[in-house]
Amino acid sequence: MSHRVAVYPGSFDPIHNGHLDIIERCRPLYDELIIAVLANEAKKPLFSDAERVEIIGELVSGIPECRVESFSGLLVDYMESRGAQVVVRGLRAVSDFEYEFQMALMNRHLNPRVETVFMVPREEYSYLSSRLVKEVCRLGGNLDGLVPEAVLSRLTRRLRTETPGGTPVQP
Ligand code: PNS
Repeated sequence: MSHRVAVYPGSFDPIHNGHLDIIERCRPLYDELIIAVLANEAKKPLFSDAERVEIIGELVSGIPECRVESFSGLLVDYMESRGAQVVVRGLRAVSDFEYEFQMALMNRHLNPRVETVFMVPREEYSYLSSRLVKEVCRLGGNLDGLVPEAVLSRLTRRLRTETPGGTPVQP
């Protein structure tokens, strides 16, 4: 059987436990899993692509068949350059479907050899998004069990001490 390479692309700004759950779930299904971080400064990410790659790299360092890279340009071109056949995307709720469906069909139009596989995270992560994680952290809310410690510490530093208007960390 041929070497099966899957790409899990996203902004991952920042990665949260829902993303990590998807990584855990798809890892036994492929020989190689590349987590592909979109490098797009136009989206004004909180963390640079180098920072996001570093954070995810730390979190998946114990998984030999998994690595992380940043990419720019078309996802299908990046996949071609890595010999990957499968795009993995998480589907949390029906509200994700339309956007994901459009992307899957556009990617198929651009390269009919690319297949998109949707994976469903654990229910307790179905409401989780990077946008909400940042908002809750900025306003001083509790993110226990929703992001790994490596993310929480960086988020707290970035949003509550380095960002004007963030809720200061209690001494
Ligand atoms: O985590 P996100 O922001 O929902 O991820 C979106 C991502 C990175 C998968 C998507 O924006 C993407 O693939 N961008 C690369 C540009 C591209 O290929 N666009 C056309 C495909 S629809």
